[in-house]
Amino acid sequence: MTGPIVIAVDGTAASGKGTLAKRLARHFGFAHMDSGSLYRLTALAVLESKGDPTNEAAALQGARSVDLSRAGSPAIRTDVVGKAASQVSAIPAVRNALHDYQTAFLNHPPGQSKGAVMDGRDIGTVIAPNATAKLFVDADPKVRAHRRLLELETMGIVRDEADLLREILARDTADRSRPISPMVQAKDADLLDTSALSIDAAFAAALALVSPKIEAALKDRHRG
Ligand code: CDP
Repeated sequence: MTGPIVIAVDGTAASGKGTLAKRLARHFGFAHMDSGSLYRLTALAVLESKGDPTNEAAALQGARSVDLSRAGSPAIRTDVVGKAASQVSAIPAVRNALHDYQTAFLNHPPGQSKGAVMDGRDIGTVIAPNATAKLFVDADPKVRAHRRLLELETMGIVRDEADLLREILARDTADRSRPISPMVQAKDADLLDTSALSIDAAFAAALALVSPKIEAALKDRHRG
Protein backbone atom coordinates (compact mmCIF):
# COMPACT_ATOMS: atom_id res chain seq x y z
CA MET A 1 0.00 0.00 0.00
CA THR A 2 1.28 3.46 -0.79
CA GLY A 3 0.38 6.80 0.78
CA PRO A 4 1.20 7.96 4.26
CA ILE A 5 1.18 5.56 7.20
CA VAL A 6 -1.71 6.14 9.60
CA ILE A 7 -2.09 5.17 13.24
CA ALA A 8 -5.70 5.54 14.44
CA VAL A 9 -6.11 5.89 18.20
CA ASP A 10 -9.73 5.86 19.31
CA GLY A 11 -11.16 5.47 22.77
CA THR A 12 -13.27 6.66 25.66
CA ALA A 13 -13.07 10.05 27.41
CA ALA A 14 -9.94 10.52 29.53
CA SER A 15 -8.68 7.02 28.68
CA GLY A 16 -5.18 8.33 27.91
CA LYS A 17 -5.54 8.10 24.13
CA GLY A 18 -4.30 11.66 23.54
CA THR A 19 -1.10 11.14 25.52
CA LEU A 20 -0.48 7.81 23.80
CA ALA A 21 -1.12 9.28 20.35
CA LYS A 22 1.34 12.13 21.00
CA ARG A 23 4.03 9.76 22.22
CA LEU A 24 3.53 7.38 19.30
CA ALA A 25 3.87 10.30 16.90
CA ARG A 26 7.08 11.43 18.58
CA HIS A 27 8.47 7.89 18.56
CA PHE A 28 7.94 7.34 14.84
CA GLY A 29 8.55 10.96 13.76
CA PHE A 30 4.96 11.22 12.51
CA ALA A 31 2.58 14.20 12.55
CA HIS A 32 -0.15 14.19 15.21
CA MET A 33 -3.68 15.50 15.29
CA ASP A 34 -6.10 15.38 18.21
CA SER A 35 -9.41 15.32 16.34
CA GLY A 36 -11.25 15.97 19.61
CA SER A 37 -9.75 19.46 19.59
CA LEU A 38 -11.70 20.22 16.37
CA TYR A 39 -14.97 19.35 18.14
CA ARG A 40 -13.86 21.23 21.25
CA LEU A 41 -12.95 24.32 19.17
CA THR A 42 -16.34 24.09 17.46
CA ALA A 43 -18.02 23.93 20.87
CA LEU A 44 -15.97 26.84 22.18
CA ALA A 45 -16.98 28.99 19.20
CA VAL A 46 -20.66 28.18 19.84
CA LEU A 47 -20.43 28.86 23.59
CA GLU A 48 -18.53 32.12 23.06
CA SER A 49 -21.20 33.38 20.70
CA LYS A 50 -23.84 32.38 23.31
CA GLY A 51 -25.27 29.79 20.92
CA ASP A 52 -26.88 26.43 21.72
CA PRO A 53 -24.51 23.49 20.99
CA THR A 54 -27.47 21.24 20.16
CA ASN A 55 -28.72 23.65 17.48
CA GLU A 56 -27.60 22.59 13.99
CA ALA A 57 -27.20 26.09 12.51
CA ALA A 58 -25.26 27.39 15.53
CA ALA A 59 -23.04 24.28 15.64
CA LEU A 60 -22.31 24.38 11.91
CA GLN A 61 -21.43 28.05 12.17
CA GLY A 62 -19.07 27.07 15.03
CA ALA A 63 -17.44 24.32 12.91
CA ARG A 64 -16.87 26.83 10.10
CA SER A 65 -15.27 29.34 12.43
CA VAL A 66 -12.89 26.92 14.16
CA ASP A 67 -9.78 28.85 15.15
CA LEU A 68 -6.94 26.31 14.96
CA SER A 69 -4.50 28.71 16.59
CA ARG A 70 -6.41 28.00 19.82
CA ALA A 71 -6.01 24.19 19.62
CA GLY A 72 -3.43 24.29 22.40
CA SER A 73 -5.45 26.60 24.60
CA PRO A 74 -6.51 25.35 28.06
CA ALA A 75 -9.89 27.04 27.35
CA ILE A 76 -10.93 24.07 25.22
CA ARG A 77 -9.93 21.47 27.82
CA THR A 78 -12.63 22.27 30.37
CA ASP A 79 -15.40 19.80 31.11
CA VAL A 80 -18.03 22.37 30.06
CA VAL A 81 -16.47 22.54 26.60
CA GLY A 82 -16.12 18.72 26.61
CA LYS A 83 -19.84 18.28 27.11
CA ALA A 84 -20.68 20.85 24.41
CA ALA A 85 -18.14 19.12 22.10
CA SER A 86 -20.04 15.87 22.51
CA GLN A 87 -23.29 17.69 21.66
CA VAL A 88 -22.00 19.37 18.48
CA SER A 89 -20.28 16.12 17.43
CA ALA A 90 -23.62 14.30 17.19
CA ILE A 91 -24.75 16.70 14.42
CA PRO A 92 -24.04 15.23 10.93
CA ALA A 93 -23.42 18.64 9.31
CA VAL A 94 -20.69 19.35 11.87
CA ARG A 95 -18.99 16.00 11.29
CA ASN A 96 -19.13 16.59 7.52
CA ALA A 97 -17.63 20.05 7.89
CA LEU A 98 -14.68 18.64 9.88
CA HIS A 99 -14.24 15.45 7.83
CA ASP A 100 -12.18 16.82 4.92
CA TYR A 101 -9.86 18.66 7.25
CA GLN A 102 -8.98 15.38 8.97
CA THR A 103 -8.53 13.32 5.77
CA ALA A 104 -6.38 16.08 4.23
CA PHE A 105 -4.12 15.95 7.28
CA LEU A 106 -3.79 12.17 7.00
CA ASN A 107 -3.17 12.22 3.24
CA HIS A 108 -0.61 15.02 3.48
CA PRO A 109 0.87 15.02 6.96
CA PRO A 110 2.64 18.32 7.65
CA GLY A 111 6.42 18.51 7.74
CA GLN A 112 6.82 15.85 5.03
CA SER A 113 6.23 13.18 7.69
CA LYS A 114 5.94 9.61 6.44
CA GLY A 115 2.89 9.13 8.59
CA ALA A 116 0.34 10.57 10.95
CA VAL A 117 -1.26 9.63 14.25
CA MET A 118 -4.82 10.81 14.86
CA ASP A 119 -6.82 10.28 18.02
CA GLY A 120 -10.58 10.53 18.48
CA ARG A 121 -13.70 8.40 18.43
CA ASP A 122 -14.22 7.42 14.76
CA ILE A 123 -10.74 7.50 13.25
CA GLY A 124 -10.39 3.75 12.73
CA THR A 125 -14.02 3.32 11.70
CA VAL A 126 -14.92 6.35 9.55
CA ILE A 127 -12.04 8.78 8.95
CA ALA A 128 -9.30 6.21 8.19
CA PRO A 129 -10.86 2.74 7.85
CA ASN A 130 -7.68 1.56 6.07
CA ALA A 131 -5.31 2.83 8.76
CA THR A 132 -2.03 0.92 9.07
CA ALA A 133 -2.58 0.30 12.78
CA LYS A 134 -5.58 0.88 15.03
CA LEU A 135 -5.89 1.07 18.79
CA PHE A 136 -8.98 1.40 20.95
CA VAL A 137 -8.01 2.75 24.36
CA ASP A 138 -10.22 2.32 27.39
CA ALA A 139 -9.97 2.29 31.18
CA ASP A 140 -12.20 1.76 34.18
CA PRO A 141 -14.50 4.83 34.45
CA LYS A 142 -13.38 5.51 38.05
CA VAL A 143 -9.75 5.56 36.95
CA ARG A 144 -10.65 7.92 34.10
CA ALA A 145 -12.56 10.26 36.42
CA HIS A 146 -9.54 10.42 38.73
CA ARG A 147 -7.20 11.19 35.82
CA ARG A 148 -9.53 13.95 34.61
CA LEU A 149 -9.65 15.38 38.15
CA LEU A 150 -5.85 15.63 38.20
CA GLU A 151 -5.72 17.03 34.65
CA LEU A 152 -8.25 19.76 35.50
CA GLU A 153 -6.37 20.51 38.75
CA THR A 154 -3.23 21.30 36.76
CA MET A 155 -5.35 23.95 34.97
CA GLY A 156 -6.53 25.38 38.30
CA ILE A 157 -10.00 23.85 37.97
CA VAL A 158 -11.22 22.10 41.12
CA ARG A 159 -14.03 19.59 40.59
CA ASP A 160 -15.83 16.93 42.56
CA GLU A 161 -14.65 13.47 41.48
CA ALA A 162 -18.12 11.90 41.71
CA ASP A 163 -19.51 14.62 39.42
CA LEU A 164 -16.71 14.01 36.93
CA LEU A 165 -17.47 10.29 36.95
CA ARG A 166 -21.14 10.99 36.21
CA GLU A 167 -20.18 13.37 33.37
CA ILE A 168 -17.72 10.91 31.83
CA LEU A 169 -20.29 8.11 31.91
CA ALA A 170 -22.93 10.39 30.37
CA ARG A 171 -20.54 11.46 27.60
CA ASP A 172 -19.51 7.84 26.88
CA THR A 173 -23.18 6.87 26.58
CA ALA A 174 -23.93 9.80 24.26
CA ASP A 175 -20.84 9.10 22.11
CA ARG A 176 -21.64 5.37 21.91
CA SER A 177 -25.31 5.71 21.10
CA ARG A 178 -25.39 8.54 18.55
CA PRO A 179 -26.55 7.42 15.11
CA ILE A 180 -23.65 9.06 13.22
CA SER A 181 -20.05 7.87 13.72
CA PRO A 182 -20.69 6.32 17.14
CA MET A 183 -17.72 5.54 19.35
CA VAL A 184 -17.08 1.86 18.69
CA GLN A 185 -14.00 -0.33 18.55
CA ALA A 186 -13.17 -1.07 14.91
CA LYS A 187 -13.17 -4.81 14.16
CA ASP A 188 -9.47 -4.73 13.33
CA ALA A 189 -8.43 -2.45 16.25
CA ASP A 190 -6.42 -3.72 19.21
CA LEU A 191 -7.98 -3.00 22.59
CA LEU A 192 -5.68 -1.41 25.15
CA ASP A 193 -7.01 -1.18 28.71
CA THR A 194 -4.92 1.37 30.59
CA SER A 195 -6.72 1.03 33.98
CA ALA A 196 -3.74 -0.49 35.75
CA LEU A 197 -1.00 1.04 33.61
CA SER A 198 1.24 4.05 34.21
CA ILE A 199 1.76 6.36 31.21
CA ASP A 200 5.10 4.66 30.47
CA ALA A 201 3.62 1.16 30.75
CA ALA A 202 0.65 2.13 28.55
CA PHE A 203 3.02 3.55 25.96
CA ALA A 204 5.14 0.36 25.99
CA ALA A 205 1.99 -1.72 25.51
CA ALA A 206 0.76 0.54 22.67
CA LEU A 207 4.14 0.37 20.98
CA ALA A 208 4.22 -3.44 21.20
CA LEU A 209 0.83 -3.56 19.46
CA VAL A 210 1.48 -1.09 16.63
CA SER A 211 5.23 -1.41 16.03
CA PRO A 212 5.21 -4.61 13.92
CA LYS A 213 2.62 -3.08 11.56
CA ILE A 214 4.39 0.27 11.30
CA GLU A 215 7.85 -1.25 10.83
CA ALA A 216 6.49 -3.51 8.07
CA ALA A 217 4.84 -0.56 6.32
CA LEU A 218 8.02 1.54 6.60
CA LYS A 219 10.07 -1.33 5.14
CA ASP A 220 7.57 -1.68 2.28
CA ARG A 221 7.89 1.97 1.41
CA HIS A 222 11.67 1.81 1.63
CA ARG A 223 11.67 -1.09 -0.85
CA GLY A 224 9.16 0.60 -3.16
O1 CDP B 1 -10.24 14.25 25.97
P1 CDP B 1 -11.56 13.57 25.94
O2 CDP B 1 -11.44 12.12 25.69
O3 CDP B 1 -12.41 13.89 27.13
O4 CDP B 1 -12.39 14.19 24.75
P2 CDP B 1 -11.96 14.61 23.28
O5 CDP B 1 -11.21 13.49 22.62
O6 CDP B 1 -11.31 15.93 23.31
O7 CDP B 1 -13.38 14.72 22.56
C1 CDP B 1 -14.40 15.56 23.04
C2 CDP B 1 -15.72 15.11 22.41
O8 CDP B 1 -15.63 15.31 20.99
C3 CDP B 1 -16.02 13.62 22.59
O9 CDP B 1 -16.81 13.34 23.75
C4 CDP B 1 -16.81 13.28 21.32
O10 CDP B 1 -18.17 13.51 21.48
C5 CDP B 1 -16.28 14.27 20.29
N1 CDP B 1 -15.38 13.64 19.32
C6 CDP B 1 -15.95 12.95 18.26
O11 CDP B 1 -17.18 12.85 18.17
N2 CDP B 1 -15.18 12.42 17.28
C7 CDP B 1 -13.85 12.49 17.35
N3 CDP B 1 -13.11 11.97 16.36
C8 CDP B 1 -13.23 13.16 18.44
C9 CDP B 1 -14.03 13.71 19.43
